[in-house]
Amino acid sequence: MKVAVTGAAGQLGRALVSLLGLRTAWAGGRDELDVTDPAAIARVLDRVHPDVVINAAAFNDVDGAEAAPGPAMAVNAVAVGHLARACRERGAVLVHVSSDYVFDGAKREPYREEDCPRPLNTYGVSKLAGCLLVADAGGPHLIVRTSGVFGPGGNRVKGGSFVERIIARARAGQALRVVADQVFSPTYAPDLAAALVALMDRGTRGLVHVTNCGSCSWHELATAALELAGVRATVEAIGSRELGAPARRPSYSVLANERARAAGLAPLRLWREALAEFLRGNG
Ligand SMILES: NC(=O)c1ccc[n+]([C@@H]2O[C@H](COP(=O)([O-])OP(=O)(O)OC[C@H]3O[C@@H](n4cnc5c(N)ncnc54)[C@H](OP(=O)(O)O)[C@@H]3O)[C@@H](O)[C@H]2O)c1
Repeated sequence: MKVAVTGAAGQLGRALVSLLGLRTAWAGGRDELDVTDPAAIARVLDRVHPDVVINAAAFNDVDGAEAAPGPAMAVNAVAVGHLARACRERGAVLVHVSSDYVFDGAKREPYREEDCPRPLNTYGVSKLAGCLLVADAGGPHLIVRTSGVFGPGGNRVKGGSFVERIIARARAGQALRVVADQVFSPTYAPDLAAALVALMDRGTRGLVHVTNCGSCSWHELATAALELAGVRATVEAIGSRELGAPARRPSYSVLANERARAAGLAPLRLWREALAEFLRGNG
């Protein structure tokens, strides 16, 4: 099976490329393939002839999307539609990644795939639109919804993953104030990549939720990261209103993973175990 990976320079993209190894027929970041350029997509697919395209490209600046929706809609929605049609026309399977932020957080038990999405912010709207465009293209596809991705190197635009930024700020002696009223399942990029490839290899189709097990708030994640990294610092728990971020976020966005289990995927380990491994690797 020949696999092409777009957005290969991101957290998930890097984990996928390192896991797939020689199965990667092509992998590129934005410099090699800007997914908003349909002609460039066609050129790569016609040259590489992949059986599967994994789209790890995304515009993930949730607050930035609130001020300027254009780039989020272009990358997370319109480009995904182009990719889906290009894949369908060439008989390739599209594996795409979506977000827990398609939900409004009103539920107090894990969101299932069939729950009605109701995004609270522009980023969530753009991710939902991308999924609808994949379905609309009518080709074979797998969409994996996940949440709170962290991993080595993190997100370039944000300057590392949340975990890395918290530890760096604590080490620099900066005050730490982190929201305690948004609950989700932190997900380790290499674990997500392994699950995605396992589902791909099983030929799973449709929409599937995949996260590490367990859930916590950003405040609990920050506290656990500092404890596991051996950094002594106080993290003040604040509310989302107090933080006043431009984009509203769901207060609860834990995703139920039963469909992934039914598809034969073993439960991913607890987020705290994955975090410990990540921090051991990052010294
Ligand atoms: N991170 C999270 O907490 C989270 C939560 C839920 C779901 N997800 C989803 O999980 C997937 C993987 O996210 P991630 O954490 O790996 O994100 P990431 O680290 O931000 O990686 C996304 C990559 O896409 C690239 N990209 C942006 N615009 C592009 C374009 N026009 N053409 C090609 N590449 C482009 C980015 O490049 P630049 O760095 O140059 O912009 C970046 O390398 C995404 O679908 C995301 O929406 C993430």
